[in-house]
Amino acid sequence: TERLIIGMFGFGVVGQGLYDIIKTKKLNLEIKKFVIKNANKERTLPAELFTTNAEAILGDDEINTVVELIDDAEAAFEITRRALKSGKNVVSANKKMIANHLEELTLIQQEYGTSLLYEGAVCGSIPIIRNLEEYYDNELLHSVSGIFNGSSNYILSKVFNENQSYNLALKQAQELGFAETDPTLDVGGFDPKYKLTIIASHAYGIYVDPNDILNIGIDQLDNQDIRFAKEKGFKIKLLPFAKEINNNQVVLYVLPRLITSDNILFNVENEYNGVLVKAAFADEQFFYGKGAGGHPTGSAVLSDIAALRYGYRYEYKKHLDASQVLYSTDYQLKV
Ligand code: HSE
Repeated sequence: TERLIIGMFGFGVVGQGLYDIIKTKKLNLEIKKFVIKNANKERTLPAELFTTNAEAILGDDEINTVVELIDDAEAAFEITRRALKSGKNVVSANKKMIANHLEELTLIQQEYGTSLLYEGAVCGSIPIIRNLEEYYDNELLHSVSGIFNGSSNYILSKVFNENQSYNLALKQAQELGFAETDPTLDVGGFDPKYKLTIIASHAYGIYVDPNDILNIGIDQLDNQDIRFAKEKGFKIKLLPFAKEINNNQVVLYVLPRLITSDNILFNVENEYNGVLVKAAFADEQFFYGKGAGGHPTGSAVLSDIAALRYGYRYEYKKHLDASQVLYSTDYQLKV
């Protein structure tokens, strides 16, 4: 197989986590260049590997694989689009970029015969995209739901189990590298909504504009909500939901929900994520693992890099029409 010559954008929590994993292994790949935003930051690797000039990767024909791990979703989109159009395969962990541009990115891949993989964008280490694509290919999926945001779950765990303040728990989630640079994306329920959008495309073959999906985050909870849940022996978890109804319609939303102790998500704590799949024939299945952090997410990114070696690409086979998606808040709240 072709040797992977990688150009990497970004060297933050996930980039460094990925690098840590790669350096412990003997893999048939080379990271030729890192493009970073801040030239003055001290790096743990030789300075000549780093540049702020994107052309050092996008204009280098020897580089056949781009690993995109930057924060800025629109800059990430430009990089991804250009790379795919110039014959480079791309691995990304940028859920906001992918959720916002999935349809266009799919068309570009088809037109240029390149591949974009993004397991690391959805629920960190949990291989949910690969499973939706492959394992559930022939399944009718009743629903895909669970805990998709490590930071919100970390905060809720600290608040419920250790009586910690919301603000301190959020600060810790940031220090541990779980939170987004703008933590509103986490606690406002946007990050899990982007992941839900991506999941819906692989579960049902629908392209949805994330702006159309209702998201209420844990930042909307008040002390009374927490107290009520605790008194009753419940927990509150932030739950994204994709659910098929009436055989061909899908309802999508992200809401904090009360969870009882018999729910499998009750004991999913801290930065762990859990994905609950309900399928017509396989019935209920549950995926559990770390949803945030450099090494867990880096491991998913590496798994995508490895899959490129055998030409892996997503197919988004199960097609429903976008008109079959229901967004109505009234409806959602009744589900
Ligand atoms: N901020 C995200 C989270 C990182 O807390 O889940 C992983 O996507």
